[in-house]
Order: sequence, then structure tokens, then C-alpha cells
Amino acid sequence: MNREPLRFKNGKFKIMLIGDLHEKYDMHTEKAAEKVEDMHALLTKAVEQLNPDLAVYLGDNAWADDKMRMRSVISRILYPVSVKDIPFALVFGNHDRECGVSLEEQTRLYNEHDNCYLYNADDSITGCGNYNLLIKASKSDDNVLNLWFMDSNNLAENRELSKYDWVHQDQIDWYRKTALELKEKNGGKVIPALHFQHIPVPEEYELLREAKPYERLDSVPGHGKWSNKNYVLKETVEGYLGEGPCTPCVNSGQFAAWKEIGDVIGAFFGHDHMNDFAGYVDGIMLAQSKTAGFRPYTDGCRSGVRLITIDENTPENIHTKMYHFKDFGLKSKSLSPYMQNVSDRQDLKLKVAGALLGSVAAVATTAVAVNKVSKNKK
Ligand SMILES: [Fe+2]
Ligand SMILES: [Fe+2]
Repeated sequence: MNREPLRFKNGKFKIMLIGDLHEKYDMHTEKAAEKVEDMHALLTKAVEQLNPDLAVYLGDNAWADDKMRMRSVISRILYPVSVKDIPFALVFGNHDRECGVSLEEQTRLYNEHDNCYLYNADDSITGCGNYNLLIKASKSDDNVLNLWFMDSNNLAENRELSKYDWVHQDQIDWYRKTALELKEKNGGKVIPALHFQHIPVPEEYELLREAKPYERLDSVPGHGKWSNKNYVLKETVEGYLGEGPCTPCVNSGQFAAWKEIGDVIGAFFGHDHMNDFAGYVDGIMLAQSKTAGFRPYTDGCRSGVRLITIDENTPENIHTKMYHFKDFGLKSKSLSPYMQNVSDRQDLKLKVAGALLGSVAAVATTAVAVNKVSKNKK
């Protein structure tokens, strides 16, 4: 990777997150073309309106069973970003290693595009695509912001401990070493940093609280060792909880390392297609970006992208917002009219409301019938 350094523009640096596209070579399954059209419509509109300085694909990006087909799928997911010459970076997700093309080969294929900033900083550590990118000031070569990208690996070796794997100790050691080197070069001051990774850290559960019995319809069951309880977002957390965060059940100490070094101000994750909440744990923002695609499981027209804006004068403050397909006024070609308007828990609530109305109507009909019978008796 030998690209021009990334820079703040007019005092801002804007990053657009693209989660879990799960794009694949196959175009023959039902509504495949319409799903790709919807994904392109969302990304094209988002790029036009949000004008990001960098797009970050958050993993579970592309699938194909050989190199030639993978090249085609990669071009397909990059098209709305590349056509506007927007630089892109990415992390790999658990599903990215389930195809016939290794992550190292995928890295080479992504790098066939001139706007690619993905690289692998250290071949000796676990995973592929562990790296950082420094963002320079608008008018000098000062490093204002740092971006970390880390491979959260696949499934855990010991499934009794956890379904999903975690960031390994050698990756955390690489982060710590590199962050301290950057600090030293920066006159002993840490450079504020954002972290991007596919599978979230277990600390996301600190953004949730156990649901009260009357909140049953608004809550979701947890994942793994949290699965015996139902959760809702704490009142201080913004956004939407569509499913229990599928984090590893083992805490690798990654979050503790961020706290120890003190550079990471926010960490952004994919993996959970219906979650788009953002909140703070011990002063570090943990935020989800839901799927921007229509191939994987979604919650209707709420596929979307997350925008992060950092101000050059106050890089320690994060401004972030989700933009959903429906917010752009787009009309889906792949979703049914019903799914375009209601989905997920809205859908469930409507069904429950329908059932309740049905019961009320049944009671009213019975009451009328009884009344008629009584009148007839007279
Ligand atoms: Fe996914
Ligand atoms: Fe995933």
C-alpha cells in the first residue's frame, strides 16, 4: 500500500461505515438483481449526500468460490465508492474466510483498486488486515487522528467457552507496541484514535440493562452466556437494539488495553446486522453499524450506513449518526411493500395489537350476541 496520506478537509474528516454486505457472485437466486440494486442505491445516495473522506467496510463483505469471481464481487461492492474516487479501508469478518479465496488473496484483489488503503501491517500476528492509518492535518503533516483496523477472527476453537473467537493476545500486543511508538513520535502525547473491527467486544453488554417484564416486546435475548436474560438499551444509549450483541463470551482484554493506552476514543463494529446503537463505556464510545445490504438478514428498509465526523480542532469528540435506506427517501425493489414499512419489533407489535383488537372485537361481538339473547328472552 503506497497511497497519498489521508487528510482533514476544511477542518473535518468524515468516515462512512458500510456494514455486512454479504455480497456474493451468484445472481440467480430470488431477487438477487433487485437486492444488488437496492444496495447500490443506498451507497450511491449516501456517498452523494454525505460526501465522506473515507469509506470503511466492516466485514462479512464479499463471497465467491474462486479468484476471478471474487474480483467481480469486490468491484460490485466498491463501485458506488470508487466511481466517486473515495478512498476505502476495510476489516475482514468471520464469513469472509468461508469462501474459496484466502484473506491474503482478497487483500491483493482489493489493492487492485487505486483507492484502497487496506494492508496487513504484520504477517507474524494472528489474522489478516491488522493495520493503522494516520490522518493528517488540512494544512500540515501533523498527525491529528489515527485509525486502527483489526481482524476479529472467526469462530472460537473451544465452542464450550464461546461461539465467536476474539482478538488474540499477539494482536493486542501489536496494538500496544505500535500505539506506544506513535505516542513517542508524537512528543509523548497519544494521538486520538478510532478503532474498526467486525465482531464487537463483550463490553457492549455494559450499554444494555435487563428488561423489565412489561418491556418484553421491546427487548431482545442476549447471546451466549447472556442468553438467559432479555435486554434493552440503557437510557443514555442512542440508536436501536435489534438483537443480542453476538460478542465473544471470553474477554480478551482488548478493551482494557484501549483504556490503558488511552488513545482509543471510539470503537465501531459490524457483525450484528440489526444493531445500530452508540453509547459510552468508561469514556470510550462503542457503536454498531448495521448492515448496509439486502442480501443478509435485515430489518426491512432500515439497512443503512453510519457517518462519523471528526473536527480537526477537537479530534477527541465524535459526532456520529446512522442514515437508513428509508431516510434517504429510497424505494426498495427487493422488499415487499409490507417489509418496506414495518419490520422487526414494529412488525411484532402490530401483530400483537392486531391480535388484541381481534380479541376486543370477539368480546364485543359476544357481548352483542348475549345482549340480543337477553332481549329475546324478554
Ligand atoms: Fe454478517
Ligand atoms: Fe459476522
